Amino acid sequence: MSTDAPATAQVIQRIAQLKRDLAEHNHNYYVLDQPTIADSEWDKLFHELLALETQHPQLLTPDSPTQRVGSTPLESFDEVTHRIPMLSLGNAFSEADIDNFDRRCREGLDLGDTEIEYACEPKFDGLAISLTYIDGVFVQGATRGDGAVGEGVTENLKTIRSIPLALPHGQQPALLEVRGEVLMLRKDFDKLNARQAARGEKLFVNPRNAAAGSLRQLDSKLTAGRPLTFFAYGIGAVEGVAMPESHSALMDRLESLRFPVAKQRNVVQGVPGLREFYQRIGGARATLPYDIDGVVYKVNRFDQQKSLGFVSRAPRFAIAHKFPAEEATTVLLGIDVQVGRTGAITPVARLQPVFVGGTTVSNATLHNEDEIRRKDLRIGDTVVVRRAGDVIPEVAAVIMEKRPPNAAVFVMPTRCPECDSAIVKLEGEVIARCTGGLICPAQRKQALLHYAQRRAVDIEGLGDKLVDQLVDADVVHTPADLYRLGISALANLDRMADKSAANLIASIEKSRRTTLPKFLFGLGIRHVGEATAKDLARHFGNLTAIMDASAEQLLEVHDVGPVVAQSIRQFFEEPHNREVVEQLRACKVTWPETQIQQGRASQGENAPDGNTGAVLGHFAGKTVVLTGTLSAMSRDEAKDKLEALGAKVSGSVSKKTDYVVAGAEAGSKLEKAVELGVAVLDEAEFLAMLARD
Ligand code: IVH
Repeated sequence: MSTDAPATAQVIQRIAQLKRDLAEHNHNYYVLDQPTIADSEWDKLFHELLALETQHPQLLTPDSPTQRVGSTPLESFDEVTHRIPMLSLGNAFSEADIDNFDRRCREGLDLGDTEIEYACEPKFDGLAISLTYIDGVFVQGATRGDGAVGEGVTENLKTIRSIPLALPHGQQPALLEVRGEVLMLRKDFDKLNARQAARGEKLFVNPRNAAAGSLRQLDSKLTAGRPLTFFAYGIGAVEGVAMPESHSALMDRLESLRFPVAKQRNVVQGVPGLREFYQRIGGARATLPYDIDGVVYKVNRFDQQKSLGFVSRAPRFAIAHKFPAEEATTVLLGIDVQVGRTGAITPVARLQPVFVGGTTVSNATLHNEDEIRRKDLRIGDTVVVRRAGDVIPEVAAVIMEKRPPNAAVFVMPTRCPECDSAIVKLEGEVIARCTGGLICPAQRKQALLHYAQRRAVDIEGLGDKLVDQLVDADVVHTPADLYRLGISALANLDRMADKSAANLIASIEKSRRTTLPKFLFGLGIRHVGEATAKDLARHFGNLTAIMDASAEQLLEVHDVGPVVAQSIRQFFEEPHNREVVEQLRACKVTWPETQIQQGRASQGENAPDGNTGAVLGHFAGKTVVLTGTLSAMSRDEAKDKLEALGAKVSGSVSKKTDYVVAGAEAGSKLEKAVELGVAVLDEAEFLAMLARD
């Protein structure tokens, strides 16, 4: 509890001393990797400071080491305009590119054959950020963004222990912007992923993605739990202090200000020096503690940098020399298929494990069947595996000379490995998909979220987190299971209060009364969006007719082409899907009949309260255009009402339009209606017809 006790000079001094000592120990530990005290000692100092700050909150400052734990979550990140834009670097991929870069620099500086002095350093594979220190205190940190404006991620950056919260005493200029890269060390990445796996959470693909995801958390307490690090490679705006005259001296200065800088930095002469640096760092790449995707060369002298200047958005005085993608050969042991959240089937190469690009690779995506044919991959082939920077490994080519006589052609399975539903490829598509949308374990979460969304049956409160919990706890497998949930099953879930459980049950209950288009849309049939679901409902009038419709009958529906028809057929041909639909109906999910075009009779199926559907009214089967402003309701409300009555609401007037509803200030659509002789309703007429319908 804060007591706001009056602070004595002794307390003030002690707090200052503790802050200095902790900052120094932090630097020893996180930057120099040479701790001089035991962790328990550090904890003691930290808790002493915490206790003093709690007793004397007026003495708490933003640069205190106690402020690294994260603070209240943000709604969104602020926009931060960089005082000096954060530019990017040109890329070089070959020795010739480097010769050209050096020649351009020498010509630009009028140096003839005199060699240029270059500062060389690794190209960190992380995220660029800018740190602003005012009077020596870290006050703001921002991502690069579009180079001119970035996102303010100050609280997140404060949690990174290697970023100083204050500059050492006596070295605190009015303004200093330090620029560099946030990244995750490989060992920290491995630990983080092991932790994620132990908790059953999703694994990060690579350190760069993990760093990016962690830095962009609105809740800085989450970032505080992620082991990020930082390396400085330059500065932005500076006021109140003279800066060194070369990049290498600047790096030394930043190091003395306690910023982490790359150990592998060198000053070299001319192209031979650049080549040697590239070879050396390239050779050491796999042993570095972090991922790099190349090296960076910068003309060392600032006066020379200034006279070379910039071209478009990159400096002329610096270049990134990228490493080629690393390659290795191995054997393709087999091709498995994976089912994605949307049912997409991806063939994956099972490889004899091979070390490439800093990691052991035993799987590589093969994207789709066409790709396998294009590369003529056969099981048993010796293949070239390539891994470029942060990109996932790929099978680049087959070594034909090594093809064994029994190499086998890949055959796409016809049944889903997860749910045994049919796998199909729609006409004109490259991706094969599992048709068991409603029951496939791989698609379960997606299917439930789709079914529960507002535009479908609308189960308020059933979002990603809850769906994750329900599926992971093995409580819900299909949408029908939602209607069998009891309070006790929900109460067993983490962080589920009685009230929330009761609310969820109530929203599930409410969702039993829906409309046919919403239900149909909620089934998640590929290519059946809201508009198509409405068209189908209007055309067929009841679900059984849609489920049993032939492709030809489906093609009669407005806006339904062969691909959509095929997709609907395949969905309902899958017995598993029909079963879930039957279960949903057995769970009393109901809807009123919509009106039927083309003379189909309503079969009165599935209607609640014995209601066998509305009597055909003015708007049933009519095409209506809304224009101008209505005073009694919004345009969306009018649209919903019309559609509920079986009308099709269109955005443009044509000869096929039955009515144009013209509100106040109706413009060209009204003119067009008059021109084409389409019936025009004013608001009063429209409301009267609605009331009668
Ligand atoms: S200097 C004018 N040095 O590479 C740009 N950048 O394409 C000054 N990067 O966004 C950047 N390591 O995030 C510089 N040693 C290094 C770097 C480095 C990585 C990144 C940086 C920048 C991108 C440029």
